[in-house]
Amino acid sequence: MADASLSTTSLPNDLESYWMPMTPNRQFKADPRILVSAKDMHYTTHDGRRLLDGTAGMWCVNAGHCREPIIQAISARAGELDYAPAFNMSAPFAFEVASRIAALTPADLDRVFFTNSGSESADTALKIALGYHRLRGEGSRQRLIGRQQGYHGVNFGGLSVGGIAANRKMVGPLLPGVDHLPHTLNIEKNAFSRGQPQWGAELADELERIVAINDASTIAAVIVEPMSGSAGVLPPPKGYLERLREICDKYGILLIFDEVITGFGRLGAAFAAEKFGVIPDIMTLAKGITSGTVPMGAVVVREGIYQTFMSGPEDAIEFCHGYTYSGHPLACAAAIATFDLYRDEGVFENAAELAPYWEEALHSLKDLPRVVDIRNIGIVGAMDFEPARNGEEPLGTRAFLEAYERGVLIRGKGDTILLSPPLIIDKSQIDEIAGALEDVIKGFD
Ligand SMILES: Cc1ncc(COP(=O)(O)O)c(C=O)c1O
Repeated sequence: MADASLSTTSLPNDLESYWMPMTPNRQFKADPRILVSAKDMHYTTHDGRRLLDGTAGMWCVNAGHCREPIIQAISARAGELDYAPAFNMSAPFAFEVASRIAALTPADLDRVFFTNSGSESADTALKIALGYHRLRGEGSRQRLIGRQQGYHGVNFGGLSVGGIAANRKMVGPLLPGVDHLPHTLNIEKNAFSRGQPQWGAELADELERIVAINDASTIAAVIVEPMSGSAGVLPPPKGYLERLREICDKYGILLIFDEVITGFGRLGAAFAAEKFGVIPDIMTLAKGITSGTVPMGAVVVREGIYQTFMSGPEDAIEFCHGYTYSGHPLACAAAIATFDLYRDEGVFENAAELAPYWEEALHSLKDLPRVVDIRNIGIVGAMDFEPARNGEEPLGTRAFLEAYERGVLIRGKGDTILLSPPLIIDKSQIDEIAGALEDVIKGFD
């Protein structure tokens, strides 16, 4: 599929200066994969390959690539107002984006604090939770509860409540007073579940045990991804989130949903909270908020939390927190154009409509060699393979490389592959992803 006219001219001369994030730098630089352009459902690589994007970049390009209305909005804004101070000043657009988000989010999740990434959203949400309890005279509530295998970005707060050892081990003890719930993956009981698995609601009861050990008066918040993404796409077991909500309510613990991946249509509803009918107290967002075009994140809180902060003297800063680029004009332009596009094209509705077709396509691969589990919900999915045999490359990594050769971009992570295409996908593109995977996996023996 290589296009000779593009040859390798777009490969950078110097690959060494850039320390790439979350990447085996030496391996990558020995055989680089450079993306030079994108349109709708496809990327083009430096050597002229056209790749069907099975990952929406990194779970973020929900509206598809290089969409004209978003390009226009960002370009126009860049020529009109490049930057406005975020503290004590603002631009009209930040207010508009906040109102639009408040209108989309369920219940009274109506107050919006802007960040620039999912990691910043996670740390901001944890700080809001701690501040909220302190302002209510319950400053002893300082413990934070995360979950094994959880991913809330790479800043110190998110890492502390996150549960991925590889990310944590390099940086010492992290925040004190953090406990973790067990993760919800159980292949023995739930293999090849379609959507939410039947077994596992009782895993939420672990929160009762943590309360019993520490006392509820020490616990500020529980943070979970309503569907664990980076852990390998783990839809919540039926009843699990409801149970977490119940226990949090019982003990006055705030429930934070990290919707950085699940927000903006990924599960076929605007938010996972809506999809599962469980309303958190705080929601973190990023990625799909601008369809990946300009960095932006947000934390949305319920009215009561916001009002608790608004209780001091009127000339005092209520929350000494924020970023130079909170509510950046270009990000706001991108967000508004993205929301319009989501609405006008029915992007979330497309995800909901195609979810059953997506599920069928993925589960049609069930009987291929060395497949041990397939999970799906909305337009997201994962497959687990048997562990690598002696000296063999992990099958998830191999699947990624071989699918790439076949013109389909997926994510490989050890023994697992992760799939999360843009939500403008159609049936033929779903077939193309499943077809490429079938060809690749048939070669596993
Ligand atoms: C659930 C979740 N939270 C937070 C993050 C971190 O986001 P960022 O990489 O924008 O900091 C991610 C990134 O994948 C995520 O999946």
